[in-house]
Amino acid sequence: MFVAISGTPGTGKTAVCERLRDDGYQVVDLNKLASETDSVVGVDSERNVDIVDADLLRVKVRELGNDLVFLDGHFSHLMDVDVSIVLRCNPDELKRRLEAKEWDEKKIRENVEAEAVDAITVESTESGVDTLEVDTTNRSAEQTEEAVLKIVSGESEEFKVGQIDWSEVILDWY
Ligand SMILES: Nc1ncnc2c1ncn2[C@@H]1O[C@H](COP(=O)(O)OP(=O)(O)OP(=O)(O)O)[C@@H](O)[C@H]1O
Ligand SMILES: [Mg+2]
Repeated sequence: MFVAISGTPGTGKTAVCERLRDDGYQVVDLNKLASETDSVVGVDSERNVDIVDADLLRVKVRELGNDLVFLDGHFSHLMDVDVSIVLRCNPDELKRRLEAKEWDEKKIRENVEAEAVDAITVESTESGVDTLEVDTTNRSAEQTEEAVLKIVSGESEEFKVGQIDWSEVILDWY
């Protein structure tokens, strides 16, 4: 079973995946897998991010086997996954997290805006994969791990898409 741990940068994918790995679960860092398998086909110089050949990477992911595997990466929802878990974060808090990473202002704004308009959730849902959301704003990485494991065990009701709405937060910006 493949489980995508996706979400806007800074929502806490790697933080929760580190916990899952510590607890003995198989976790694959998709950015690392992409560079190790020559799936990076270019660099978007404007946005300063790698361009990945998703079709090629999908084949590489399939070669990982059939056990429970968590995929860490902001394009993991585009792989052949059984379920896609999109981590979410209030844009104001996300901005603080990305500032702490010392990202430049333009990149922070782009990502905070993508979070505000549910970009990854929309992309994941439109790809047809079963998509759930976990709000990490007031959840520790530990609590996020609990939520992820709950979803994997089939208790996904409380994480259904449609409950997270940052439009009020955006209105405060203008
Ligand atoms: N649940 C959380 N609560 C508070 N802070 C968190 C939480 N999860 C992660 N953080 C902090 O937010 C920052 C970004 O987290 P992390 O690197 O896990 O995000 P990411 O989604 O993997 O981002 P990227 O796509 O850039 O790899 C880190 O400084 C981390 O310590
Ligand atoms: Mg990460």
